[in-house]
Amino acid sequence: MAEFDFDVIVIGSGPGGYVAAIRAAQLGLKTACVESRETLGGTCLNVGCIPSKALLHGSELFEEANNGTLAKFGVKIPAPELDLPTMQGEKATAVKELTGGIAFLFKKNKVTWLKGSGSFVDKHTVQVGDAQHSAKNIVIATGSSVTPLPGVTVDNEGGVIVDSTGGLALDRVPNKMVVIGGGVIGLELGSVWRRLGAQVTIVEFLDQLLPGMDGAVRKEAAKIFKKQGMELKLSTKVTGATVEGGKATLTLEPSAGGDAETIEADCVLVAIGRRPNTDGLNLAAIGLETNQRGQIVPDHEFRTKVDSVWAVGDVIPGPMLAHKAEDEGIAVAENIAGETGIVNHAVIPSVVYTMPEMAGVGLTEEAAREAGHDIKVGNFPMMANSRAKTNREPDGFVKIIADAETDRVLGAWCIASLAGTMIAQVAQAMEFGATSEDIAYTCHAHPTHSEAIKEAAMAVRGLPIHI
Ligand code: FAD
Ligand code: NAI
Repeated sequence: MAEFDFDVIVIGSGPGGYVAAIRAAQLGLKTACVESRETLGGTCLNVGCIPSKALLHGSELFEEANNGTLAKFGVKIPAPELDLPTMQGEKATAVKELTGGIAFLFKKNKVTWLKGSGSFVDKHTVQVGDAQHSAKNIVIATGSSVTPLPGVTVDNEGGVIVDSTGGLALDRVPNKMVVIGGGVIGLELGSVWRRLGAQVTIVEFLDQLLPGMDGAVRKEAAKIFKKQGMELKLSTKVTGATVEGGKATLTLEPSAGGDAETIEADCVLVAIGRRPNTDGLNLAAIGLETNQRGQIVPDHEFRTKVDSVWAVGDVIPGPMLAHKAEDEGIAVAENIAGETGIVNHAVIPSVVYTMPEMAGVGLTEEAAREAGHDIKVGNFPMMANSRAKTNREPDGFVKIIADAETDRVLGAWCIASLAGTMIAQVAQAMEFGATSEDIAYTCHAHPTHSEAIKEAAMAVRGLPIHI
């Protein structure tokens, strides 16, 4: 009889966990995945990436019809009417199809789904409901949840103070929405509800939006969102909230301290970050501790201090992004199977899916200078890109940062309607150790938004053609 029930048990079926489980099974390992939700796919597929992108797409179509964009191109229609239940229905269908797709892939690859919440009994055994299951290797991929804000109690059912999950499920367009946190979720969901008719105010603790992105992107983002009609209250903190009669009253103060003010809203979205899920795992049973931020810290192979236990995704340090979790999921399975699974954490793109999109990969200009690099920077405005100009998408730019001595690309930052797609080519170039000259002398199809990447690379040498 086999020593263990499984070769691998993965706890959590988000992008980190389901990908780890499928790759482990592909490599011939007998694999199970524990998931407590009713459907597979984790935060990303159920209440994250996918539903938010469905609403971003639907609301963008509505805005194009509503704000004259379609009319400008000769597509004249009467004032559009919003059918929010249908838009929410499309979102639900996309989520159902994609989460069902993971269930199909589990069956196809013979991954066993252990339904329920998993906790450690010992370093080879997981309790799920009344049953115990053993495995030679256990991967923790339990992801993250919304960080609460003291004094501002989220009640997704009530629909007045909500987190991202409630903010994706509103059954009405708020008149006035206050978003606490000018990060990725705040700007994406704030954009959705603004496009559909809400008056949106973003309250951000720091003096700029989008921490972690390049300074030029952060500065331009503020201009773009203001132009789109959002009110930005930067360097401001929320100190409390009350709800009465379907309205919230928020108390705000300057972040550095000072006079308080109050504002009212019929919906408040709390989006101040996420924190790792480790409660309930009974890590004490295996002697595994978390760091100060509540994260499990594995080594570069994703193995924890307990040799049979591994960890990937939002529960470990690094950007909380689905594609980072997926790549770690592949790598951890390959390492467990005795192969060499590697993730290059220096080249993980990040994208904000607003219109225009905002994207980057590698070092920001600030981080490159701080790390002591002597750098050259090439900039190219989207206004000078023929395709963006033709499509009447004037906002944005591409910025490429290269090492002054070696010309190696250190980072790239981009605001453009297709920035999320465009940034992939720089990520690939960086993986291959490209110089800015390599990009500048790569033939790009015309007319495409991607030509702006080539032009920014040419601008590193001071020789762009179209500006
Ligand atoms: P998760 O996806 O969080 O999955 C963990 C799973 O583990 C969950 O299903 C949970 O139920 C389960 N679980 C936890 N504990 C246990 C337990 N003890 N037993 C059994 N099951 C357990 N990232 C992007 O890259 N692009 C985007 O566009 C994007 N949009 C987002 C939009 C929103 C609104 C949010 C909230 C997040 C978004 N993210 C996006 C982030 C992305 O969702 C996460 O980075 C990603 O889901 C992390 O994957 P994971 O596998 O580590 O964890
Ligand atoms: P975030 O970390 O992106 O932004 C949180 C913002 O809230 C920061 O700007 C922070 O300064 C601010 N903040 C913190 N405390 C505050 C306070 N008390 N008052 C006012 N502002 C405060 O976190 P967010 O937006 O909640 O997203 C969580 C994670 O989900 C992110 O790490 C992101 O990686 C991921 N995500 C990714 C998406 C994408 O890739 N497109 C989309 C949505 C989420």
